[in-house]
Amino acid sequence: MLAVKTIDEVRRVVHPAKQGGKRVGLVPTMGALHEGHLSLVHAAKSECDVVVVSIFVNPIQFGPNEDFEKYPRPIEKDLELCRQAGVDVVFYPEVQEMYPRELLTTVRVSKMTQTLCGKSRPTHFEGVTTVVTKLFNVVGPDFAYFGQKDAQQALVLRRMTADLDVPVTIRICPTIREESGLAKSSRNQYLNDDQRVQATSLSRALKEAVSLIKSGKKETSELIGAMETIIKTAGPCRIDYISVNDLETLEEVSRVQKPVVIALAVNIGPARLIDNIMVDAEGNEIIMFGRNVV
Ligand code: PAJ
Repeated sequence: MLAVKTIDEVRRVVHPAKQGGKRVGLVPTMGALHEGHLSLVHAAKSECDVVVVSIFVNPIQFGPNEDFEKYPRPIEKDLELCRQAGVDVVFYPEVQEMYPRELLTTVRVSKMTQTLCGKSRPTHFEGVTTVVTKLFNVVGPDFAYFGQKDAQQALVLRRMTADLDVPVTIRICPTIREESGLAKSSRNQYLNDDQRVQATSLSRALKEAVSLIKSGKKETSELIGAMETIIKTAGPCRIDYISVNDLETLEEVSRVQKPVVIALAVNIGPARLIDNIMVDAEGNEIIMFGRNVV
């Protein structure tokens, strides 16, 4: 495995491979890797000849009072995990390498970034779409892998590549969970034992919403009420949002009549946790992998 910190070095390895007809897969991450990230690597390995993982805690996607400084950066452990997973190239640049000068150019996706997490994190998605565009331009991947765990992010990036004709196929891979149902996240490290138990209320609430839909309850207000009760009963928390949104446009819906994403963001102790589930109007779970359109 090659671990490099500069754009030049990545290009020197990846471009000849592309010229030689190899399929290149990119897995963008911010490190503190866990099985969620590694599932993306496995998906990439299953259909690409060269797998590149980027590890970069991207400052421009964090708000002023967010956790950029304290975000975990266990780089040696991450490199070892990548080695074990059979990654070919790790790109782990310093901030200066990615942002060597004042950034005057950004990529912004409208509408879809203004709902859900976009309401409380108004600059976040512009930071994500900009850095991912830069990573695409550095690596030139044929496929890029994202987790459904960050559903809005994945759907925004898919829309960005479609709107801008970026020659990359976006793969959205299933959320990896602990046995308790808690979605794996680098931010779970911020939780103590009690909070970790409490945090299982998020996936329980989503499951409850799905069974309500299956039993014919389609009114969003009713679903949200039931989820809120489960989450509030589990312990002290601050609910940022619980929302049911159209899977394609991410607009809020008042009834489940088409494919939707049921999404939530909840602060438990020091961690802001997100989770979601995608279902059709009958409550059947939708798995995105391989789909470029809903
Ligand atoms: P990060 O939070 O490190 O996540 C990197 C990728 O791993 C994302 O596509 C995310 O959805 C996926 N992922 C995280 N937890 C997962 C889980 N439990 N199951 C499946 N996939 C999971 O998301 C980012 O970094 C950044 O915003 C990035 C896209 C790298 C841009 O900076």
